[in-house]
Amino acid sequence: MDIERRKSLGSYYTPDHVVQSLVRWAVGSPKDRLLDPSCGDGRFLMVHSNSVGVEHDHRAAAVVHQRAPGSLIHEGDFFSWAARTVERFECAAGNPPFIRYQRFMGSTRRAALELCARHGAHFSALTSSWAPFLVAAASLLKPGGRMAFVAPAEIGHAPYAAPLLQYCLDHFSLVQVVAVAKKLFPDLSEDCWLLYCEGYGGRTTSILFTQMDTFSSCDRPPQSGERVSTKAWLSWNSHLRPFLLPRQVRSLYEQSAASSGTVRLGEIARVGIGYVSGANDFFHLRPSVASMLRIPRSYLVPAIRNGRSLIEQTITSETVARWWKRDEPCFLLRLRPKKELPQSILDYLDTPAGCEARRTFKCRNRDPWYVIPSVHVPDAFLSYMSGEVPSLVLNAANCVATNSVHVVRMSNGFRAQDLQRMWSDPLTTLSCEIEGHPLGGGMLKLEPGEASRVLLSRTATQSKSDRDVLLDGISVMRRWRHYA
Ligand SMILES: C[S@@+](CC[C@H](N)C(=O)[O-])C[C@H]1O[C@@H](n2cnc3c(N)ncnc32)[C@H](O)[C@@H]1O
Repeated sequence: MDIERRKSLGSYYTPDHVVQSLVRWAVGSPKDRLLDPSCGDGRFLMVHSNSVGVEHDHRAAAVVHQRAPGSLIHEGDFFSWAARTVERFECAAGNPPFIRYQRFMGSTRRAALELCARHGAHFSALTSSWAPFLVAAASLLKPGGRMAFVAPAEIGHAPYAAPLLQYCLDHFSLVQVVAVAKKLFPDLSEDCWLLYCEGYGGRTTSILFTQMDTFSSCDRPPQSGERVSTKAWLSWNSHLRPFLLPRQVRSLYEQSAASSGTVRLGEIARVGIGYVSGANDFFHLRPSVASMLRIPRSYLVPAIRNGRSLIEQTITSETVARWWKRDEPCFLLRLRPKKELPQSILDYLDTPAGCEARRTFKCRNRDPWYVIPSVHVPDAFLSYMSGEVPSLVLNAANCVATNSVHVVRMSNGFRAQDLQRMWSDPLTTLSCEIEGHPLGGGMLKLEPGEASRVLLSRTATQSKSDRDVLLDGISVMRRWRHYA
């Protein structure tokens, strides 16, 4: 299957030992009828003859007819089928497609979100497909039913994991999430965890959270784990990922968050994304090109175009002078509305490159097309993808930044220098790990909302033992996101 088609269908087939185990977890007796809502080539159905599969991809569905001849296959969209069918199942198992919101759209998404809303699970339009799949599959169970599914590890932090887990808490007597450190799918950058629920029609006030280093076949879901109460889960922003941390680390973090010696970044600064030019290569000039085009220097503003520029503690006028000397294409042609432009700039706007730039989506949708909105000079820049710690770099040279880094504007009388001092504290590093999320490939991502929740210590005077606890927490989180 070509990669585009694979991505649009979320087709990643589950390794055999995981399939065998999940079917055994879900099936209570040979007579049980099993549902796989996205059965792919039928590998879950093959394990249990009394089974029903749904599959959107007709090529995969054709394979299922051969591999699992005893199973009933419905070809088409699961959500439309789920809305119509009157059949109910003792159990469900499988691996739902992981299609991000940009591709999970149109009538399928509409049917999915409507169906889930009817069952009380409200997902936003930014939801990936897997979470509504699991709610819709659960809603087809008979009282007492069980389900066992692969789920992306973002079940531990994605905003749309919250309505799914809340639905499970409200509809099952047992909800278990199994976090697996070693990749279940070695070829995928995303990690996968497992979700097991039993006792459909019941309810519970806790999630059994189990951590495993390596998944090995088992007939029953692991019995050990930590019972995370709904209250505790909610208090960690409906994220399960912080529960990967040892209790001692979590307690210290909670105490720190409650103490008057800490603040959240959002209380002392506003974190946002940089500007979106729509045509970065056109709007960012090299000094040599600007000079050839006779563009006055006053129209050029030094700009951060990617996180790799955030290597020093502070961007100074010397830094910018170096960029200029190295002829770097990082000088933004900043044009303001209702201002007469010099002829040299008008000529540049009418070059073939300008004609191409004005056709881009962003430029087409603003008036005039060459005035980039939201170009502000922030107090500092923050990298939002990092291997280790996100870099916080002060802006002493009136630079601006594209949306490839975050911009930080201080508020409530706080100074960027104070923020930078606090940034190097291990509490902040741990907080970035907790509030941010893994991106695959060992990277940590920090969205503006996540950055605003990062905890900062005003005093930074931990005892040696507290410091060791924080450092332990940092290394645990880095291990889980595969940062070597
Ligand atoms: C992650 S694969 C899992 C396949 C199989 N269950 C396994 O684990 O090996 C997801 C499957 O969902 C199918 N799929 C995607 N969207 C679907 C939809 N709306 N309805 C039914 N199946 C869908 C894909 O074609 C793909 O085969």
